[in-house]
Amino acid sequence: MNPSKTALEIVHHLPPHYLERTLREDVRAGLSEPAKTLPPKWFYDQRGSELFEQITQLPEYFPTRTERQILEDHAGEMAAASPTETLIELGSGSSRKTPLLLDALKAAGDLRSYVAVDVSDSALTEANSGLSRDYPDLILQAVAADFESQLQLLPREGHRMVAFLGGTIGNLEPDARARFLTQVRELLGKDGGSLLLGTGLVQPPEILIPAYDDSSGVTADFNRNVLRVLNAELGADFDVEAFEHVAVWNEDEEWVEMRLRATHAMQVQLPGAGLEISFDRGEELRTEVSAKFRPGKIAAELEASGLTIIGQWTDAEERYAMTLAEPL
Ligand code: AVJ
Repeated sequence: MNPSKTALEIVHHLPPHYLERTLREDVRAGLSEPAKTLPPKWFYDQRGSELFEQITQLPEYFPTRTERQILEDHAGEMAAASPTETLIELGSGSSRKTPLLLDALKAAGDLRSYVAVDVSDSALTEANSGLSRDYPDLILQAVAADFESQLQLLPREGHRMVAFLGGTIGNLEPDARARFLTQVRELLGKDGGSLLLGTGLVQPPEILIPAYDDSSGVTADFNRNVLRVLNAELGADFDVEAFEHVAVWNEDEEWVEMRLRATHAMQVQLPGAGLEISFDRGEELRTEVSAKFRPGKIAAELEASGLTIIGQWTDAEERYAMTLAEPL
């Protein structure tokens, strides 16, 4: 019998006002420097999450459908290589690709529970209500937490697979990536368990740039959404339409950068952050890096954090890789 078919409870690991506080800190740190930056996690209020869902459907944006294809072709091998009792998905968002993994892990034998981890409450609630209908025998948990700093709060028992999909690891710069991977290694401990990591691979800019600068302007709208979030959360007065979307390939760092370029000089008040800032005409604010990888670099970064590759799968065009790793 499954008595608990009621709405899923979200376990909150974020302290009260965590989001408001970290947003304020990120904004103060990123916008008071001469080279202005904001971290990409602030795109994802409800509207931003919806815009990202639209991006995943665009003809130019290949990572989501490529990763889905790799899962369709190889999830069975991934599950066989790493028998799993608990699937933990970091930055789970809409959890749309999760069923492919859940089905494979169930067929391979031992799966008992799924833990979705995201900073967005609305994404967690929506995703897990669908899953609870389709997987009545699975124990589902939704955890509101920040995967960069709160991995120590996640379940530590049994064989766990930590899935970090979509290429989201590319949003972290090298230092943050190393810290993150080391925390995953700590979470996995010694009693078995694995990391399943999705990464975009380095591609010619003719392929990558349209994926981040689509012809219908959805990505531009997604990019500008971070300014709407600042207006809503910090009482800022950004004139959102006065910023142009820019996507460039940074050859040295091997990442795509999204920026917002001020079309005229302006002053912006951000009372919630106690800031007043100015933009010159043409000045750019960097809103995201999305790093792409070469296979050797994936292996080297995993090894440096105490993880070793036990399986790797790519699509036929080698645009995207899924890597399964376990503690050394
Ligand atoms: C959700 C972080 C994987 O970097 O490709 C999509 C976000 N930014 N278009 C990515 C994004 C611009 C996406 N991730």
